[in-house]
Amino acid sequence: MKLGVVILAAGQGTRMRSARPKVLHLLAGTPLLGHVIGAAKSCGADRIAVVYGHGGGHVQEALADSELTWVEQAQQLGTGHAVIQAMPAMAAMDKVLVLYGDVPLIRPETLNSLLQSGSESPLSLLTVELPDPAGYGRIVRDSTAGIQRIVEQKDASPQELLITEINTGILVAQRDRLEGWLAKLSNENAQGEYYLTDIVAMAVAEGEQVLSAQPADIHEVVGVNDRVQLAELERCFQSLRAQELMRQGVTLRDPARFDLRGRLSVGRDVEIDINVLIEGDVTIGDNVRIGANTVIRNSRIGDGVQIFENCVIEDADVGGESKIGPFSRLRPDTVLAEQVHIGNFVELKKTRVDQGSKINHLSYVGDSIVGKRVNIGAGTITCNYDGANKFQTVFSDDVFIGSDTQLVAPVEIGAGATVGAGTTVTRDVPPHALALSRVKQSHVMNWERPKKKPK
Ligand code: UD1
Ligand code: CA
Repeated sequence: MKLGVVILAAGQGTRMRSARPKVLHLLAGTPLLGHVIGAAKSCGADRIAVVYGHGGGHVQEALADSELTWVEQAQQLGTGHAVIQAMPAMAAMDKVLVLYGDVPLIRPETLNSLLQSGSESPLSLLTVELPDPAGYGRIVRDSTAGIQRIVEQKDASPQELLITEINTGILVAQRDRLEGWLAKLSNENAQGEYYLTDIVAMAVAEGEQVLSAQPADIHEVVGVNDRVQLAELERCFQSLRAQELMRQGVTLRDPARFDLRGRLSVGRDVEIDINVLIEGDVTIGDNVRIGANTVIRNSRIGDGVQIFENCVIEDADVGGESKIGPFSRLRPDTVLAEQVHIGNFVELKKTRVDQGSKINHLSYVGDSIVGKRVNIGAGTITCNYDGANKFQTVFSDDVFIGSDTQLVAPVEIGAGATVGAGTTVTRDVPPHALALSRVKQSHVMNWERPKKKPK
């Protein structure tokens, strides 16, 4: 059985009031359409066609995925018309599943149950009971509960408007039968559109039993029309992610103040305080504690690490038992070995710090290699950039750097060397030497401070 998926994404999305196509607005850091494509892939799609309209070029660029077939629908003449555009791309498929680029939270489990019912009928619909069905197409069933047709809100009689079972729009159909039904669509209805929903009555007229499946949660079939709905679905998505993490053994001090925009793999007994944001691909080991207001992006955090409040960690690897923060910034290509301490107002970039080394206060260390048991004092700056090129600083094992030191790279501090406070290092320091470049202290005795002039 070959499964094709058609994702409708040609709508203008006027209510977003945006220059950006609706399906490119982000939910949990990923375009709405990206979520739908993910769901299609995880239920085993052999081919995925995206029907685009407004802003199509941007959509293709943003999603850059060679496995997708892009189909243009220049004029939005209705959902049926949109599916017709994609049918040539479905020619080799047995089944066609129709999804929507602005319905991002559909789960693969739900699609699998729809596909299951679709294996017993040439047409199966995903439907749901809504207390307030206003605006949706209604599922009309006969006295034995068999599906007869779908009637759109604007075409419905007062009786039909009372029906609370609605059409989510998501359906699966046998490809060859679908082609036949689509060929017969007309736009003689209240909106002058080619309704995909009209295929239901056609299947019934041909003696088929149209089946249905239901989602586990209503949010799975909710579409995004404006930014208020986008925010609601974001919260819903985040609360599901938070619940999954807590079930995996993570303590979230407040699940409503935790955000995941990407993939997080966690060990056991991880504690995450409020307002923590995880982005991209992040791995966190066992017994890690993360303080409030920390952002971690595309990084690995080893076992037993403590990250105190207000840290920003990006493209970094933090070795086990290290302590970071509060207020530390680890920029890309920072690699810390075990038991490293990085303290407040310290910025690291493209730097390896070996085991047991400490940079505890007010420093910038970039393009550097820091050996074992090195202590870098407060206010140390690697001058790594001459305005054109970047240069490396090497701190060998057991180096001690006094406070307020500048290291003009390229420069190397030999093993066990000491750099006195206030030194500007411009030449390599030999192992075990003391480097000093500060002006000798002098005294003017009995110094009288200036006094304010009388007015
Ligand atoms: C459609 C269904 C309705 C269902 C509702 C669920 C039809 C005729 N009606 O309503 O029964 O309850 O969805 O939300 O199918 N689109 C295109 N090209 C078009 C028209 C639409 O790509 O020419 C896309 C839109 O981008 C959107 C989706 O199809 O993602 C649904 O379109 P929309 O106009 O929101 O739905 P309705 O037609 O009102
Ligand atoms: Ca419409």
